[in-house]
Amino acid sequence: MNEFESLKRIGVEPQRCYYIPFAVSDKPKLKYGIVDRTSSSRFFSLDGVWKIKQHDCISSVKLDESLEKTIPVPSCVQMHGYDQIQYINVRYPFPFNPPFVPKNNPCWHYRRDFVLSKNQQEKYYLNFEGVDSAFYLYVNGKKIGYSQISHATSEFDVTDSLVDGQNVIDVVVLKWCASSYLEDQDKFRFSGIFRSVYILTRPNKHLTDYFIKTTLVDNVGKLTFENGSQVDVAVRIGKLSATIKAGKKAQLTINNVKKWTAETPNLYNLIITSNGEKIIEQVGFRQVSIDKKVFKINDKPIKLKGVNRHDFNCKTGATVSLSDVYKDLKLMKSLSVNAVRTAHYPNRPEFYLLCDRLGVYVMDEADVECHGAYKISGKRNLQDWINFANDLSFEQGIFDRHVALVERDKNRPSVIIWSLGNESSYGKAWLKGTKYIKKRDDTRPVHYEGIQKAESKYYYSKLFDMISMMYPSIETIKEKVLNNPKETRPLVLCEYTHAMGNSCGDIRDYWEVIYSNEQCMGGFVWEWADHAVKAKKGFLYGGDFGEKEHDGNFCCDGLLTADRKIKSTALEMKAVYEGKLCSTEKDIEIPSTNGAKSKVEIVADEATGKLHSIKADGVEVLKTPLSINILRYIDNDRKYVDDIVNLYRLPECEQRVYSCVKTQNGYEFEGGMEVNSLAPALRFKLGYQVEANALKISFKYDIADYVAYMPRVGLEFAIDQKFKDFSFIGFGPKESYIDKKTYCEYGHYQTDAYKNFDLNYVRPQESGSHYACRYLEVKNLFSVTASLPFSCSVTPFTSRQIFQTKHNFELPKNHFVNVCIDLSMCGIGSASCGAKLMDKYKTAKTLENVFTLKF
Ligand code: GAL
Ligand code: MG
Repeated sequence: MNEFESLKRIGVEPQRCYYIPFAVSDKPKLKYGIVDRTSSSRFFSLDGVWKIKQHDCISSVKLDESLEKTIPVPSCVQMHGYDQIQYINVRYPFPFNPPFVPKNNPCWHYRRDFVLSKNQQEKYYLNFEGVDSAFYLYVNGKKIGYSQISHATSEFDVTDSLVDGQNVIDVVVLKWCASSYLEDQDKFRFSGIFRSVYILTRPNKHLTDYFIKTTLVDNVGKLTFENGSQVDVAVRIGKLSATIKAGKKAQLTINNVKKWTAETPNLYNLIITSNGEKIIEQVGFRQVSIDKKVFKINDKPIKLKGVNRHDFNCKTGATVSLSDVYKDLKLMKSLSVNAVRTAHYPNRPEFYLLCDRLGVYVMDEADVECHGAYKISGKRNLQDWINFANDLSFEQGIFDRHVALVERDKNRPSVIIWSLGNESSYGKAWLKGTKYIKKRDDTRPVHYEGIQKAESKYYYSKLFDMISMMYPSIETIKEKVLNNPKETRPLVLCEYTHAMGNSCGDIRDYWEVIYSNEQCMGGFVWEWADHAVKAKKGFLYGGDFGEKEHDGNFCCDGLLTADRKIKSTALEMKAVYEGKLCSTEKDIEIPSTNGAKSKVEIVADEATGKLHSIKADGVEVLKTPLSINILRYIDNDRKYVDDIVNLYRLPECEQRVYSCVKTQNGYEFEGGMEVNSLAPALRFKLGYQVEANALKISFKYDIADYVAYMPRVGLEFAIDQKFKDFSFIGFGPKESYIDKKTYCEYGHYQTDAYKNFDLNYVRPQESGSHYACRYLEVKNLFSVTASLPFSCSVTPFTSRQIFQTKHNFELPKNHFVNVCIDLSMCGIGSASCGAKLMDKYKTAKTLENVFTLKF
């Protein structure tokens, strides 16, 4: 059997905690507030330009072949023209036949030459912080080992193979390996040496591993240092110091300790020295506990206001720089986020140092996901999933991933929860890893959502300290947890509210429950930022690279854009995370609305009831007919798109009139929105009446019972582009909806059609509506008041253009701006993956409103 059909790592040092040793005489520098590892004389970076050659199959690789091309390390090969960029979510991108992977398995031969002045007294360790998916390592022509687990550090002792002077490293990276069965996360599937590579120079006998634990009793902090090495070490924290023998532990006590929390990220320098090396640890005194049903930090109940974050950069893919990470964490803090789940694998090691420094709680997740195993027979099958979780031939692979997680990050105060992985069901193959974590670390609770989809015997197992759910409805939370006397664990929502496109209309409702129930420890929004690849014309998503199997724009589901622009959804989250749960209408004086024009004339089409002309003092107002509009696109309507498009055929419906009465000053129409073969989806009564300098439109509708989901009911028309400026009295200043307005204030706002539309939704969608408006004024053209509050928008695109366009850069350049005046605009929800839209946010089945337009 080939190594890459096994789950073994060969020649790799045991997993240890992350640290960078310095020479005792080094003067460490700081970068982003953490120790800059490049200022260590014992750290030798191999990041930079490497040589590379692509092969279709490993059998054609020759160690001494010449490599013509170059590539930066770290990077993802697909971002440098190799292979094929592919975004796919659940399905395995290769046939499911574990542990085999396709024989034509692309691989990349990397090479790096460098000069080293070798000290015969020292040892040399070559570290790879992340290689996707597996690799063989050769130093100066000698095979050193083979490793896998994409998001774990692989450390090799290369002392005997390195020479004084010129050295050469060859690395052969495989696209797929047996481990790929354990790495089926929802992401762009990148390959290559995507994280840093470096050599550490160490004394012949040196410390290897240690475990720092802290406990608190009132204001007294106790630090236990477990020396997991074969050498003695000295530790110093302020004036306190101790020597700890190999394999032993010692305790240091600090009175009046400044505790670590996300709000007060107090850190103490702990200097560890041994045999000429020094390691600077930043210790945070904090204690995690679960007290009955309540999750506590430092003995105080705490709510995790979290986000799920992938390592992703729109230009470099899975390779993220320290500055990327720092910027993300600073942005999170500014959005009142206090927790992050490292979905769905451990992040680069310094990520955690920054979380310690900036104050962010971390749910640290192991690099395991087997989501595709439940779709191997074409349709979803829980039993297939369970069978794979029970497959003991994967036990060691899962175990290694749990070890890699805990051993590397165990000293980080920011890490408060271990997560076993994501979407893999649960079974026998998982027990060894889970038990290892429980035994190895008694200071942090264990999380795993996958027991929701496993044999029921695991559900109440003591191995899981909290109950976790993704995207439950509020009723489900109540039924399964809050009102269930058997459930004595705290509840975390490892994923809730799906931030795809214009979304997260439900976040406020979740937090109403979370804030008022001590059993709820909070949740993590899915997800932090879009994954989309930046190309010249704009952002690209699944399918745009010519890949055969993909999941479209399901990767554009972030609170932020892929280049970290803030969308309204992030602001809604921020408001709720800051404790705001409502935003109410206020009494605001409506400007006097005496139209300036004296003569209004209209022409209606008697077959459709559409207004083809509105003239004010002889000047045409309309650029497109004023019509009834029932169309909108948001990703959250996707689940219903089949219904809307194929069942009710709403986009095909046409406005037709059954009866028309011409009155003295206008028209009275009765009609419906209809399409061949179906009963009208909506019936309407529409009256136009011209009054002195005004047009009154009365609009009553009834939605057919068979239409379960009507995204909106309103009027739509276009006007000349020069009338782009408008003001409104309603929820603003940014877009607002019945279920997404917590971040807004009721007020009188001025804006223009272009500013009002958010072009940042990669897949264009409904944007710029304002809820509960009492007044709309299109500057220099007309104003609208109504007998009931309405939703409205002025934007650069029609609803149909938005519905039909797949990328924001493909939207047309119109010479008009588009006005929507909605009687009823359905809530936004988060149903693209989240819970169903709540009934209270749905479009009213029937409604009547009377609009007065003055010119
Ligand atoms: C969850 C999953 C995430 C992501 C999300 C949908 O089921 O854990 O990785 O796929 O759904 O965007
Ligand atoms: Mg998944």
